[in-house]
Amino acid sequence: MDIKKFIVLGADHAGYEIKEFIKEQLTNLGYALEDIGTDSTKNVDYPDFAEKLGLRVAKNPAKKGILTCGTGIGASIAANKIPGIKAALVHDEKEAILSIEHNNANVLVLGGRPFDKKKVKKILLAWLNAKFQGGRHTRRINKIEKIEKKYSHEII
Ligand code: RB5
Repeated sequence: MDIKKFIVLGADHAGYEIKEFIKEQLTNLGYALEDIGTDSTKNVDYPDFAEKLGLRVAKNPAKKGILTCGTGIGASIAANKIPGIKAALVHDEKEAILSIEHNNANVLVLGGRPFDKKKVKKILLAWLNAKFQGGRHTRRINKIEKIEKKYSHEII
């Protein structure tokens, strides 16, 4: 298995259908996947899935994640609480590309209720093919990591 092609998928009930659609697309493209759930449209809590996916990705820098909930907002807030996670809520191809080129985000977050299959396909392909640009963006990401370390033990 090419570890670089390894993607972890996660969703709450509102993101379940888009997750299944993304899974189908990625399987057709030959990606190795781990689906951490949820497995139906039965009500669940998005922080549980964001935490599980975030830990998987944070522990293995070669892995990337795709997380979905109704709006993508709750899942991205929750995933970004895990040190090492840079979860980017994305609405179009341009943001998908910039989330990698500038932010080197390791989790793509999409809102899944409702969703447009054509648009999701485009976002997905743009995200998969984007490359981190480094340079001045590395300096900025290092600053984000510094903030994360600085406040990780503080109760605000
Ligand atoms: C679930 O109803 C919904 O709140 C959740 O999927 C998400 O949109 C939260 O941000």
